[in-house]
Amino acid sequence: MLDALKDELLSQVNAAGDLAALEEVRVTALGKKGRITGFMKELGGLSPDERRERGQQLNALKDEIAAAIDGRKADLARAHLEARLQAERIDVTLPVRPETEGRIHPISQTIDEMVAIFAEMGFSVAEGPDVEDDFHNFTALNFPPGHPARDMHDTFYLPDAGEKKMLLRTHTSPVQVRTMLNKKPPIRIIAPGRTYRSDYDMTHTPMFHQIEGLVIDEATHMGHLKGCLIEFCRAFFDVDDLPLRFRPSFFPFTEPSAEVDIGCSRKGGELKLGNYGDWLEILGCGMVHPNVLEACGIDSTRYQGFAFGMGIERVAMLKYGIPDLRTFFEADLRWLKHYGFVPLDVPSMAQGLTR
Ligand code: DAH
Repeated sequence: MLDALKDELLSQVNAAGDLAALEEVRVTALGKKGRITGFMKELGGLSPDERRERGQQLNALKDEIAAAIDGRKADLARAHLEARLQAERIDVTLPVRPETEGRIHPISQTIDEMVAIFAEMGFSVAEGPDVEDDFHNFTALNFPPGHPARDMHDTFYLPDAGEKKMLLRTHTSPVQVRTMLNKKPPIRIIAPGRTYRSDYDMTHTPMFHQIEGLVIDEATHMGHLKGCLIEFCRAFFDVDDLPLRFRPSFFPFTEPSAEVDIGCSRKGGELKLGNYGDWLEILGCGMVHPNVLEACGIDSTRYQGFAFGMGIERVAMLKYGIPDLRTFFEADLRWLKHYGFVPLDVPSMAQGLTR
């Protein structure tokens, strides 16, 4: 009788066409209410001799069916894999699918260009936090207590966090302070990054970018400042004889201070850069004020230096003919596709800033 059951179960195993069907066979035979299990349960009612003999037969049958199921399972898995390999064959000769290529944002590209130029002059890049304290953003930079920049109207202050007044940095100049506090002269750094002011119109966004420069050494003078910025502007705007005009001005953290204009023409409503007699303001600069050096632990009788700061959006707009500042931060892919740069077009002085 067991032989008949065995034949029947084995043929069911071999007939199972997939894993689900095979599992059904296993449950029918070996499950809690399975047929072999059922016979096992009857063993208790037999005499010891009969029980031993019958038990051995049933165990052998159980093992044989289990082994057949395992074998069948392996066969099915192999057949399944085989079928997939046939169906999903990869044609390595197919041409690649076109992928959408990203673009580098003009701000990132402009920063990379500036870094490439200043790197050539021996500057390294320094960074500071966007969330600053009052000391680094104002006090150490010689801003007097009643200065309008300290007003809530111009500066984003964070909710009062206790002893330190925290704010979103209004310029990249605090990186000057952090650098001087952390390393000894000679210092030659630039610091590009995000800055924040409470402003919004055609030419102002609450978040914008600046690049700061700082040089501190024992014999640095205004001539170095002028030479450095002339060199930079001519390389950046790619106009060899671009004239620069240094106009006396005021910043709390420099003395003397100057604003720098570059030569341009606005004839016919079109802006052209070069020696045309008209001027356009692009940055602020000056010799670092002795109070700033002293606030940063640098002996102002021994060291001096210069600093400058420039808005990045403004010069990017100028260089690349982008008319509206606000579009920089609208995250419009069509805009980025138009004004953005190819990712591998990495600016360098050796290969041309931007091709
Ligand atoms: N921090 C100034 C601003 O945001 C720009 C500036 C002017 C930076 C003169 C300087 C500097 O380092 O020397 O308007």
